[in-house]
Amino acid sequence: MFGETRYYTTLYFWGLLIIQILLLLISHAIGDLVENARFINLSDEDKQTYLKSKGTPYWKRLWESAFKKQTPSEEKSLLIDHGFDGITELDNALPKWWIGLFYVTIIYCLAYLIAFTFTDYAHPDVEYLEESRIQIASIKEYEKTAPSVDLETAVYSQDNIIEGEQIFKTNCISCHSDNGKGGIGPNLTDNKWINIKQKTLFRNVFWMLENGSPNNPTMRPFIKDGIITGRDAEKLAAYIYHINQEKSTITVAEGGAAPQGTEATWDE
Ligand code: HEC
Repeated sequence: MFGETRYYTTLYFWGLLIIQILLLLISHAIGDLVENARFINLSDEDKQTYLKSKGTPYWKRLWESAFKKQTPSEEKSLLIDHGFDGITELDNALPKWWIGLFYVTIIYCLAYLIAFTFTDYAHPDVEYLEESRIQIASIKEYEKTAPSVDLETAVYSQDNIIEGEQIFKTNCISCHSDNGKGGIGPNLTDNKWINIKQKTLFRNVFWMLENGSPNNPTMRPFIKDGIITGRDAEKLAAYIYHINQEKSTITVAEGGAAPQGTEATWDE
């Protein structure tokens, strides 16, 4: 199930990580080269101060840099002169609160990443699975108490036609085409039927949905396979009764599939 694939189990993640580490090492090496080249050009005095600052651990330096204020003479050397537009700006140290905020986001990001990786916290896949689990459970709960409909109890009702059409569009249109005009499966609007198993058209459709076609497994037993419920079949049968008996046949000339089977005489 897709919910169980964590990003760190994919090849992409590790490939990308290795590339990133390589890039970091390269940029670090280039940084060292630049540092060495600059160091050679420093005066002896500057070399001493530089080496002293290098002696301070990285994190300490980083921490102190957040509180450092520039002296006016330092500010002068930080002036950026655009020249062409006459605007000068100070390349100032950033305010403490701003830098603080920046570090907070980094810490938050780490905490989030760890939680996301090793727990189910804020995991869309897991949340999706949980939601669908709840939904499926509530459908099952509903099915327990809802009246079940079978071949004996199914009845035709005009109120079911519209819903039946929707279910038809989801489950049947791929084979029987829009409006049931036929394609892979036969035209459902004419009076020729391959399978005549019941006395009425409505019950015949229901029977087909329960048992599928005995001659052709392409028309599967939708109810027995658990794809639709008896209540869905009751609505589908109402829709097919409607397009077969209450609307006119879609003929070959109108794009319908040629009639198949034998002429049916239904009880109602
Ligand atoms: C994968 C293709 C396919 C799908 C999807 C499909 N059918 Fe069929 N259906 C067929 C075929 C093929 C037949 C013809 C079976 C035969 O030759 O006995 C058929 C036959 C039928 C028949 C009997 C027609 C006759 O002349 O005997 C009915 C009614 C029917 N389908 C209704 C439905 C309904 C309602 C749905 C949607 C729940 C549906 N079918 C979905 C392929 C399909």
